Amino acid sequence: MRLDILTLFPDLFPPFLEESILGRAIKKGLVDIKLVNIRDFAEGPHKVTDDRPFGGGEGMVMKAEPICWAVESVGREKNKPFSILLTPQGRKFDQPTAWDLSQKGHLILICGRYEGVDERVRTGCVDMELSIGDYVLSGGELAAMVVVDAVSRLVPGVLGGERSNLEDSFQDGLLEYPHYTRPRVFRGQEVPEILLSGDHEKIRVWRRTESLRRTLQRRPDLLNEARLSEEDRRILEKLKEEAGKIEAGS
Ligand code: ADE
Repeated sequence: MRLDILTLFPDLFPPFLEESILGRAIKKGLVDIKLVNIRDFAEGPHKVTDDRPFGGGEGMVMKAEPICWAVESVGREKNKPFSILLTPQGRKFDQPTAWDLSQKGHLILICGRYEGVDERVRTGCVDMELSIGDYVLSGGELAAMVVVDAVSRLVPGVLGGERSNLEDSFQDGLLEYPHYTRPRVFRGQEVPEILLSGDHEKIRVWRRTESLRRTLQRRPDLLNEARLSEEDRRILEKLKEEAGKIEAGS
């Protein structure tokens, strides 16, 4: 998979790209990430990338030409990459979107800055606008890192164990079950006995139950869209009954 990140601040990225899972994926050649400085596509001796807004008002607007030229320098017509503008006005980024993007082969991530980006970038050289949440960052760079991380880990071979990303929170629309490692007792809190039992079927059912319990307690909205088996539905019924009893007793 190839990702081109278009930014005015390419120096923000290298430490993030060199570490851990992503660093290994890049070294192995599974993910190829290029940093493109938008300023290299600006004209004039001062390489200006922003200007005052038409119509007046505070703040500066990123100019359309350098961004669109940078996008076009990355790829045209044949094997055209899929270009994404990171902006709080975009569609909210989530795991299904990460899956879709991981299938695309080549993405361009455009990081906006300042008060905004000339509207003709959106209309002329962007396939999708993405937001990582309902808050305003100073620029799209952190959002691009979020997208790069979430998408790269879905590329085959990037995660060591093939199952790892299938069990991640959200992969099947549920939150993850709790994890434990040594020691068996930490500050008086014990690891659930069942995880030490060696009984794989019991452990599987316990984990599924805890995953459903967490989702029910913390993000019940996710249950409407989650892929639930007959067994899941039975477990959920029980969890709801339990919750009802606890509420009635309190
Ligand atoms: N740029 C600024 N804020 C952002 C956000 N919430 N998501 C994506 N890009 C952004």
